Amino acid sequence: MESLATVAPIIEAHRLRPGALLPILHEIQDALGFIPPEAVPLIARALNLSRAEVHGVISYYAHFRQTAPGRHVVRVCCAEACQAVGGQALAEHARTRLAGSGLTLEPVYCLGLCACGPSLQIDETTLHAQVTPEKFDALIEALEAAT
Ligand code: FES
Repeated sequence: MESLATVAPIIEAHRLRPGALLPILHEIQDALGFIPPEAVPLIARALNLSRAEVHGVISYYAHFRQTAPGRHVVRVCCAEACQAVGGQALAEHARTRLAGSGLTLEPVYCLGLCACGPSLQIDETTLHAQVTPEKFDALIEALEAAT
């Protein structure tokens, strides 16, 4: 496993800390972009947990990815304030627009822009407010043109 060289030192650095599972998962995802399935038994063994327990935590949190992300990650806010002003329609538009694009679409539950939704985030860095489907398409076109 190529990612073992990345995963093993992360597990070792945290395994004796109380509540080590979440810091380990966060650090692996920060390093690799996702939690490789091969990491689950290693984490389970190091923390004396079952594989099901580790997998349960990974699948519980929408933040954790189980497959490698695309070139860019687009997160559309699915929390209540954004949903009330068109977030659902934006999420559906995004799903259609990004199908087969090589970009990853993920839900997120509040970006702190509740007063000016619908909101989205591109990668870890860029926030956009009051995103209409037309604005979404323009953002994605600019992103694709830049890569
Ligand atoms: S509810 Fe969407 S940014 Fe807070």
